[in-house]
Amino acid sequence: MTKYSRITGWGKYAPEKVLTNQELEKMVDTSNEWIITRTGIRERRIAAPEETTATMSVEAARAALDKAQLRPTDLDLIIVATSSPDHFLPAVSSTIQDMLGAKDVGAFTLVAGCTGFVYGLATAHQFIANGNCENVLVIGADLISRFVDWEDRNTCVLFGDGAGAVVLTASDMPGGVLSFVLGSDGSLGDALIVPAIGCKEPFSQKVLNERTHYIRMDGRRVFKFATRIMSKAAVEAVKASGLSLSDIDLLIPHQANLRIIELARRHLGLPEDKVFINVDRYGNTSAASIPIALCEAIEEGRVNEGDNVVMVGFGGGLTWAATVVHMGVMETLPRLVAWRFVPVGSLSFEEMKVIARATMDSLAFKASALLLPLYSKTGLRRRRK
Ligand code: COA
Repeated sequence: MTKYSRITGWGKYAPEKVLTNQELEKMVDTSNEWIITRTGIRERRIAAPEETTATMSVEAARAALDKAQLRPTDLDLIIVATSSPDHFLPAVSSTIQDMLGAKDVGAFTLVAGCTGFVYGLATAHQFIANGNCENVLVIGADLISRFVDWEDRNTCVLFGDGAGAVVLTASDMPGGVLSFVLGSDGSLGDALIVPAIGCKEPFSQKVLNERTHYIRMDGRRVFKFATRIMSKAAVEAVKASGLSLSDIDLLIPHQANLRIIELARRHLGLPEDKVFINVDRYGNTSAASIPIALCEAIEEGRVNEGDNVVMVGFGGGLTWAATVVHMGVMETLPRLVAWRFVPVGSLSFEEMKVIARATMDSLAFKASALLLPLYSKTGLRRRRK
């Protein structure tokens, strides 16, 4: 039987060091005013020398596992979305699996630039829906500051480091990941590229001299692409979920540029309070941007039980992806997953309360799906508002 995949845990990690626009003014020919007006970014986090993508990921993953009340060995799969792994080989996913103590758990790395986390969620959902996995850890992490040319003002002001993670758990209760849209247009690949140090141009003195081991970006092309694709992907994912835009409680966009987010919001016709923004404090953390934003949205009470959340991203490739997630009961208990098999007498009052809320949530969600055609025909919902 097809299973639903619900978000049962979430966690984030951002390095301690804050790099402000004022500090950047001393490093390259830029200004606080230029950065704020063109991007909305005020500061970003930069990893300490001893930190790596793996260490940041492990911090975020531990927080997500704690929330889900799972041990690392309860995981069936670990998916890590990153474009800045510790090494080309071994895959950083295996390093993270080992550091977590998730003995023998399958792990792989997925590369889709800043879009990677949503690709990871969609992939994890397949393993759960097919009945192959119960618990999948999805991490989005990037330590982009080591791939940025700190002499290139076109890129170095935009990025920051961080990691975010969620646990997806199999459930019989409708909800969780409702739909997703994945896309790629490789013909635009050179708009955001690390030109060398792959097999096409291995590391050499020439690479070092020409600084082609760092990110190169055609900002205007990426901007144009992003403003077109963000709202398109979000609309397609919402349509695929069977919901309509008015059913969406919060949009969590990739945090690359405030102007891109604002244009997407306007195209979608969403009010400001339905869009989550933290690009001002983190800059573009690549694959970590959406999971960090999701965590903060939950922590700030912007995402609540029963909410429908759209996450939409774009990035290197160029790629794009969007997903609609129905957030279920957010106070998780591992036994809830198999609650039908737990004798009622052995449940605490708190556990009973969670189960009752989950059942109500599930019934309400089923009922709203059944009544959706009726609502749109009669305009009942609009009149109620
Ligand atoms: N400080 C000051 N001036 C800067 C600068 C900086 N950090 N970076 C670029 N400039 C200059 C440019 O050299 C250019 O000067 P010129 O007109 O003399 O050539 C000028 O500012 C305007 O550049 P432009 O490209 O028109 O700016 P913009 O309004 O498009 O904003 C970006 C530039 C990069 C902020 C914007 O294009 C963008 O956000 N693109 C998308 C990038 C992105 O999201 N990448 C990650 C994808 S996951």
